[in-house]
Amino acid sequence: MVKLEQFGEQIKGLDFKEIDERNSEICSTIDKRTGLGNDFLGWLDYASKLSEKEVERIANCGKRIRKNYQALAVVGIGGSYLGARAAIDAINGLYPEDDFKIVFIGNTLSSTYTSQVLKFLKGKKFAINVISKSGTTTEPSVAFRLLKEMIISQGEDPKDAIVATTDKARGALKTEADHEGYEEFVIPDDIGGRYSVITPVGLLPIAAAGIDIKAFLKGVKSGEKEYSIPDYKKNVAYYYGATRYLLHKQCGYPMEYFVTYEPQFASIAEWLKQLFAESEGKDGKGLMPGSVTFTTDLHSVGQFIQQGSKILFETIIKTDEPIEDLVVKADKDDLDGLNYLAGKKLSYINDKAFEGTLKAHVEDGKVPANVLHIEKMTAENLGNLFYFFMRAVAYSAYLTDINPFNQPGVEIYKHNMFLLLGKPGVK
Ligand code: PA5
Repeated sequence: MVKLEQFGEQIKGLDFKEIDERNSEICSTIDKRTGLGNDFLGWLDYASKLSEKEVERIANCGKRIRKNYQALAVVGIGGSYLGARAAIDAINGLYPEDDFKIVFIGNTLSSTYTSQVLKFLKGKKFAINVISKSGTTTEPSVAFRLLKEMIISQGEDPKDAIVATTDKARGALKTEADHEGYEEFVIPDDIGGRYSVITPVGLLPIAAAGIDIKAFLKGVKSGEKEYSIPDYKKNVAYYYGATRYLLHKQCGYPMEYFVTYEPQFASIAEWLKQLFAESEGKDGKGLMPGSVTFTTDLHSVGQFIQQGSKILFETIIKTDEPIEDLVVKADKDDLDGLNYLAGKKLSYINDKAFEGTLKAHVEDGKVPANVLHIEKMTAENLGNLFYFFMRAVAYSAYLTDINPFNQPGVEIYKHNMFLLLGKPGVK
């Protein structure tokens, strides 16, 4: 479903000889699960293996929460919330016309943010979906404790109001969920946080937001077919993965910037930054991901991207049809001089901004660009897009001889913080 267009002389000049030689080996490393971190490839066929019964259980839990509560607090950090937030923002928008509210908490240690979310929830009948694979991450653990105290003080039954998404056997959250009798969903052992949006980690909050998770999974499953073709020339995810690897290696670009023309897709870019940075940024290697929302950021960092240091290429996520549209009306006085746009859709104007910017960045700025076209931001297309990127990063990380599925640096920061906080048993 994703269509790739490429622009810029640097892309045209890339030499794909290395990819031709290594394509079979890389595809087989992924599909036969023989490479670095191969015990974290469960996401490859998770969606097609997920039973209908489990999908129903997730969908029904989402419905129950929507029906019985005014809000849901999604408690998680990194891979345990970014995908759900990306999907909910992209599909429902940033100001949804929905009496049911979803808030994200436990993704920061900011006392001000946390306290403001608690104030927003105070007095509302709300449920909690606490999500943590390890079950021991500080940020969600602290927020969860604060939220639990609040629902109990508001007279809610925690057994109904709390749903835990965690490991099937290990961790403090699993122990507590079993002990307290919360409804539980499992994060499979062989799927890491940043690949887990297609599991209950993403599915439950997405369902609670009123989004059709069956359609979402349909898109993931179509991605399983489209993006597993073991030939980068016929597989757009691998072709994109190969291009970004070569732009780094042959042209020396240290950064890839993800670009969208829709503010409600900014969270998709946040999910992408985590996916690419944690998967590739190790052993002194990798492309640093960044992101911008245009046209908003054309009035800030757009100038640098076009004419500043030549440190990045762009990957633009472009939907060809908006979810909603508006038309500019004619005005009899035309004091603002906008009548030349009368009758034009806002999406048409946005498209012209996209075309004009692409031309300026490629021709004047010599900034190469990948444009990833998707028809419309539906649940199905988004599922497909998430899977597209997961395949693409696996391909380019293996080309770079990196384990895409661990995050040793993150573990060190967690350890240091535990030491400083005096966590028992940490040395
Ligand atoms: O991608 C990852 O594995 C990480 O970003 C984790 O999702 C993040 O650190 C949260 O971990 P946990 O789900 O164990 O609380």
